[in-house]
Amino acid sequence: MMNLPHQTNDSQMIQDDQTEAISQMKIGFIGAGNMAFGIAQGILTSGKVSPTNIIVSAPSMNNLPRFQERGVAITQVNEEVVERSAVVFLAIKPHLIQGVLYGISRCVTQQHIIVSMAAGVTIATLEELLPAKTRVIRMMPNLPCVLMEGALILTSGSCAGEKEETLLKNLLSPCGLVEAGPEHWIDAHTGLSGSGVAFVYVFAEALAEGAVKMGMPGALAQRIAAQTILVGSHAHLQYVPEYLN
Ligand SMILES: NC(=O)c1ccc[n+]([C@@H]2O[C@H](COP(=O)([O-])OP(=O)(O)OC[C@H]3O[C@@H](n4cnc5c(N)ncnc54)[C@H](OP(=O)(O)O)[C@@H]3O)[C@@H](O)[C@H]2O)c1
Repeated sequence: MMNLPHQTNDSQMIQDDQTEAISQMKIGFIGAGNMAFGIAQGILTSGKVSPTNIIVSAPSMNNLPRFQERGVAITQVNEEVVERSAVVFLAIKPHLIQGVLYGISRCVTQQHIIVSMAAGVTIATLEELLPAKTRVIRMMPNLPCVLMEGALILTSGSCAGEKEETLLKNLLSPCGLVEAGPEHWIDAHTGLSGSGVAFVYVFAEALAEGAVKMGMPGALAQRIAAQTILVGSHAHLQYVPEYLN
């Protein structure tokens, strides 16, 4: 794996200590949409956390039943999620952040870790809307997280740091590649991993088109192009540290 600045021996020790703690940890999601479900699925599939230690809220019953089917507690009251969780993921649309934080703030303590995935909402804004000294993490997932093949970047607020980042990396690792870094990486990551997938489709189409022009059936050419990109990606992930670090 890439040896980024936050990856130290200390963080490895914290990670080992935290693996046990994570299995006992209470985790909440405010918002029950695609990203909350994808991340919850990753965490549950890994077996690191029992569904009985997870609670999720949303105003309607549109999305909650699929969580309930997996044994996760559901509620339509956001404050209940905060009161029953140590780590709270804010999985709501960015324009709702202000109102939702206003509603839950009185329940937030320094024991919580509040993790926002709302695009474009900065650490400064989150800290301004939450009580002083709240431990805040901003994270940016991408859609492939729902397939557990995502790429996530985390960045810490002023009262969070390596300990919280290592815990989140450990918790979220089943969802894909998880790295921590400065906040300005988030925008770069959004372009790279959010929009980047679309360029891979274009590249796959182009590769397949060459084979079709040489007489191969289209569907087969597409499958071989996809498989070729998959193998190339695995090799790239494996060898990238040797020439970049
Ligand atoms: N999807 C992506 O690829 C992606 C990538 C990176 C970042 N993100 C970020 O992830 C966040 C969630 O995105 P998403 O795609 O999961 O959105 P989504 O599928 O539209 O889900 C939004 C959820 O928020 C719930 N909600 C609405 N108002 C609420 C309130 N007042 N309190 C609590 N929950 C409320 C909705 O409730 P109902 O179930 O009742 O409708 C729904 O469950 C966004 O901030 C987005 O910027 C998404």
